[in-house]
Amino acid sequence: MKLMNHLYMVAGVSLSHPFDAAAYLIEGETGLYLLDCGTPNGFTQIVENIRSLGFAPEEIRCIYGTHGHYDHVGAAALFRQKYSCCLMIHEEDAWQVESGDPVRTTGELLYGNPFPACNVYGYLKDGEQIKFGNRISMSVIHTPGHTRGSVCFALDCDGYQFLVAGDTIWGGFSEQIGSDAKQWMDSLDKLTAMHFDGFSFGHVGANVIADADRRIMDAKRQFGVYYNPWFKVMKEDFRY
Ligand SMILES: [Fe+2]
Repeated sequence: MKLMNHLYMVAGVSLSHPFDAAAYLIEGETGLYLLDCGTPNGFTQIVENIRSLGFAPEEIRCIYGTHGHYDHVGAAALFRQKYSCCLMIHEEDAWQVESGDPVRTTGELLYGNPFPACNVYGYLKDGEQIKFGNRISMSVIHTPGHTRGSVCFALDCDGYQFLVAGDTIWGGFSEQIGSDAKQWMDSLDKLTAMHFDGFSFGHVGANVIADADRRIMDAKRQFGVYYNPWFKVMKEDFRY
């Protein structure tokens, strides 16, 4: 579904498969780009979603991964095999994707599936600017905490500041996947010091959350929820 000019959501629980985290398609001037790419379980439907929007998956040049988890980049190897696109991810999460580590990728740990190992073409770096043409660009924000190599993407879509937060907002905390509370709080401080017009995160429906600064601040204040999702029923004002 179209989120705004040149930006589409193509994967997610309501769009492709219950295992899939949100994934986004950028219509660049010289090709298509994915921000995350869902799971092998959702791959066929994600490709169908891309085609039904009028785009050719053969035009996908690169997948930019928010972090090295099954629900976010588990389908990267399939995209790479079928469409010869490359995968870019932060260096700290690259090894688990390249080795298909069953715990660190959460493939076996949470989904009971092997993670198809995928070669990483290059590493995303904090502050890196990526231009997809004159109307859409993004900068990479390294936001460790959920995993050590988690990043967010700050998109500028024709002047609209849109944050793709991955699991840095409302993700789960587990030492088994290398989560770090201090790093995570620092990352949330980093995000709340910035301005965004809208945002989206990994496990949310297909929509743009428009009161971004306030809602990201809410997400930081309720950091305890990240340790135990059941906490949310205890808070009257809880909301995603
Ligand atoms: Fe994750």
